[in-house]
Amino acid sequence: MKGFLFIHNYYHSISFVQTHQSMEFIKVTEQKEPFVALVELNRPKELNALNRQLMVELLEALQALDKNEQVRAIVLTGNEQAFAAGADIKQMADQSAIDMLMVDQFSTWDMIRKTKKPIVAAVSGFALGGGCELSMMCDTIIASETAKFGQPEIKIGTIPGAGGTQRLTKAVGKAKAMELILTGRFLSAQEALFYGLVCKVVPVEVYLQEALTLAKEIAQMSPIAVQLAKEAINRSFETQLDEGLAFERKNFYLTFASADQKEGMKAFVEKRKPHYTGK
Ligand code: HXC
Repeated sequence: MKGFLFIHNYYHSISFVQTHQSMEFIKVTEQKEPFVALVELNRPKELNALNRQLMVELLEALQALDKNEQVRAIVLTGNEQAFAAGADIKQMADQSAIDMLMVDQFSTWDMIRKTKKPIVAAVSGFALGGGCELSMMCDTIIASETAKFGQPEIKIGTIPGAGGTQRLTKAVGKAKAMELILTGRFLSAQEALFYGLVCKVVPVEVYLQEALTLAKEIAQMSPIAVQLAKEAINRSFETQLDEGLAFERKNFYLTFASADQKEGMKAFVEKRKPHYTGK
């Protein structure tokens, strides 16, 4: 019954978004530069924590831009303080493994991944958990000097669920990925550049303009060639990625069967240190 309610609420939120054009958590500006659209995550008080409505709105925005002939490249950003501090912990804290499976939030993430047009992430401040994963789902990342990347899920009794174990490992190599994912430590912008996670680091005053300039340059190329090149680059690891994502997803759901995940997320919400028992 509980599972049914979650599914019902989830689909209710989709139809709400589709029938009401205004978006609560996403702001879209077309022609920010010629043929470039800017998509902003807009939940600043919660450091752009990615709740399910935000992700559905993001998908809807990207699908509309994908069909819009006046748009050839997209910049996705948050604000100076945070790109996104992860999936919304308050929304997940009490859920069981079966609730998570039935809600199936990842079908939204999977469809975002299918966007054909190139997406440049402009990252400043926190890009953590699902926020780091979302930035890595983009085609390249411009970071401000203040950017902090990380997969801190381990600290709240769970693991990355939206591709972090796969994409971060591909981007920075096994040793660094193990360090980051097993401790939840953050990676600075300069380290992210050193490891090849981002393509450029610039002062915070100009990170968004730098991303828009890159998107503008891409938008001047043949859109067909750009789409085909993006598809081909992604194909270089996609077969392995699909298997890896499915494996990660099952293990992510499995953590929701543990008392440690309940304790970890409850502790975050209650602003205290978690006490893990290995149960
Ligand atoms: C819900 C969040 C949040 C999150 C921050 N907030 N991150 N709410 N989910 N992921 C909220 C806080 O509760 C607080 O609201 C407000 O945003 C400001 O955050 P503070 O913690 O007061 O700010 P600060 O002390 O500066 O610390 C910043 C921070 C910290 C280090 C980024 O907020 C943090 O550790 N956040 C969680 C990071 C994380 O664990 N991410 C992974 C989530 S799991 P209130 O109203 O309480 O004051 C995940 C799994 C992905 O992403 C799986 C795929 C979907």
